[in-house]
Amino acid sequence: MKFFIDSADIADLKAAVATGLVDGVTTNPSLIAKSGRNFVDTVREICSFVEGPVSAEVTATDLDGMLAEGRALAAIADNIAVKVPLTWPGLRACKTLADEGCMVNVTLCFSANQALLAAKAGATFISPFVGRLDDVGTDGMELIREIRAIYDNYEALETEILAASIRHPLHVKDAAMAGADVATMPPNIFRQLIDHPLTDKGLAAFLADWQKTGQTIPRK
Ligand code: E4P
Repeated sequence: MKFFIDSADIADLKAAVATGLVDGVTTNPSLIAKSGRNFVDTVREICSFVEGPVSAEVTATDLDGMLAEGRALAAIADNIAVKVPLTWPGLRACKTLADEGCMVNVTLCFSANQALLAAKAGATFISPFVGRLDDVGTDGMELIREIRAIYDNYEALETEILAASIRHPLHVKDAAMAGADVATMPPNIFRQLIDHPLTDKGLAAFLADWQKTGQTIPRK
């Protein structure tokens, strides 16, 4: 499973990328607003230290506007994935941009039929929002399972399932078990993936016992 970081905070992204385990980044207009920075400058900077796909979202809602913004965003760097919303103009923009060779991430997916449409439109990624579905009392992870089952029925559909709106580490595990290709998560969730009290306790015990031996391991 690929790990993307869902953030526009440069310091957080650099810290996550330094682990060597980050495969890409997703941003959205809310995350850009939270950063307080210029959108294009921020995305360009992210692309300078992230090798994998970096999603940058259009804000136009009409086809021509989405195409114009999408082409401008794609020109920022080779690893830009243009993010478009799951609307009819968004799907048309997806198809055109994909035909032009752009990576496209279709966002705000809340149903399996929407995911099927995005795949037919040539999306590189489909982003089902697991947490927001949970928020309204439905099982967000069930949508990942449905999309996985549908995509697996048709070899021609190459769209990757990008589990989005991840709210806690359990979402990451469940998305991996459901067969999502990618999970995009906030930096704090990425950091929490490693946490287990028995790891800390076990390491403390090993080190205490090792100290009793009085030995040191030679270093090269
Ligand atoms: C994904 O690309 C979105 O930016 C993100 O996962 C949305 O998450 P939220 O529901 O926590 O805002």
